[in-house]
Amino acid sequence: MADFDLIVRGGTVVTGTDTVRADIGIRDGKIAAIADSLSGPETLDADGLFVLPGGVDTHCHIEQLRADGTADEETWESGSASCLVGGTTSVVTFSTQFKGHDILDPLADYRRRAQMSMVDYSFHQIVTDASDEVIFKQIPRIVEEGIRSLKVFLTYDPLHLDDRGYLRVLAAARRAGAFVTVHCENYEAINWRTEALLAAGHTSAKYHSWSRPSIVEREATHRAIALAELVDQPIQVFHVSCQEVAEEVATAQARGLKVWAETCTQYFVLTAQDQDRPGFEGAKFMCSPSPRTEAEHARMWDMVRRGVIDVVSSDHSGWCFEGTRGKRINGSDANFRDTPNGVPGLSARLPLMFSEGVVKGNIDINHFVRLTATNPAKLFGLAGKGSIAVGYDADLVLWDATKQVTITNDLMHQAIDYTPYEGMTVTGWPVATLLRGHVSMRDGVVQSEPGAGKFLARAPYDLIKPRGVLADGFDASLYA
Ligand code: URP
Ligand code: ZN
Ligand code: ZN
Repeated sequence: MADFDLIVRGGTVVTGTDTVRADIGIRDGKIAAIADSLSGPETLDADGLFVLPGGVDTHCHIEQLRADGTADEETWESGSASCLVGGTTSVVTFSTQFKGHDILDPLADYRRRAQMSMVDYSFHQIVTDASDEVIFKQIPRIVEEGIRSLKVFLTYDPLHLDDRGYLRVLAAARRAGAFVTVHCENYEAINWRTEALLAAGHTSAKYHSWSRPSIVEREATHRAIALAELVDQPIQVFHVSCQEVAEEVATAQARGLKVWAETCTQYFVLTAQDQDRPGFEGAKFMCSPSPRTEAEHARMWDMVRRGVIDVVSSDHSGWCFEGTRGKRINGSDANFRDTPNGVPGLSARLPLMFSEGVVKGNIDINHFVRLTATNPAKLFGLAGKGSIAVGYDADLVLWDATKQVTITNDLMHQAIDYTPYEGMTVTGWPVATLLRGHVSMRDGVVQSEPGAGKFLARAPYDLIKPRGVLADGFDASLYA
């Protein structure tokens, strides 16, 4: 019997810390050996290529359920194909709660849908209604099942939780041993400015960014961190858009708090200016928080280099540009408030971050791997993912660092009918993606079947344990 099912031969293996020329031996879907030279009957030639850990995207919206009983247009089949084409092998997506309802029924539906995935997956549980039933019974139950992170929106109708609801979720997470991710923007301030903008006749997509300037993100981030400190509950601030906000996280980190910051591809390449396009075109670039300015991109790279921001996700969102279920769900002349937020980006994430980051000299390739694979896997407890080591899942990407590609939506293999990155030229592209040892994508062709992905139940892990530092030593989370 051969020692290995497959050998990835002759590549330059890159982890979050090291770069070394080596062969990788794969057995039963796992990395069984990393050595100078391995032999066996089946080989995959990686000569001249980097071999990276498969990308880990811990913030993306795929086939997310909607309140009307339908789901986002990006299906598990199309979304996971897009992941493979872009070099991503694990995702964490969102199970939803609808106000006035519980979390268990939508979760069961969502789990059933996810069985079509071709990449490995786990979920964050969105909590929009912090009822006693959800807080005291259902959250402990789903955490036991391995859904070890919750998502709270401090803005958006109808998802928004007020401070009391947020505190209750933090306390529930602390009791259950879960992590909390937070969308930080000030609900009332955005509504106030939105009403004023609409009253002034400022209705087009361009005013989306005017409705939510960075100060509303900064305020909510400060508050989210302060309340998390009060409960002594670790959090990750989602989609940090600018330095001003990242500095709030930096201050908290310097004080020893367990607060992490994620950002997304769009905050390095898009700007608010993109929303100022003729007709309805600006809607393609509407997401929240809004992308800021070109000068901000450089400041975001600073925050990455300082280590304040340590995860880059896609925040891929399922709204097509054409048709009646996407951006135009309220009509092509809908004002910015009534146009859905979010931009797609599952497969563009690694190429854009490599090109903007490594090729342009903002970060080195190991830092790129940490941001896009190793750190998200560690932070969200995805054991055996995000690195290349013996015993890890053989989730690998063969990466051509010199290949130049001009991004078009056809290359994204997604159901969403546009990409905000259309026409951008990148250097660096995935030429093969392996999921647990299976070559699932080669030269842009998906070679996998729906159902090849598996659910990643997340066990307790130390990184997200509370610090044990409480005001007056009193643990309110034991009581409320
Ligand atoms: O605009 C965005 N980011 N849409 C997706 C939902 C969210 O806020 O994460
Ligand atoms: Zn969000
Ligand atoms: Zn999101």
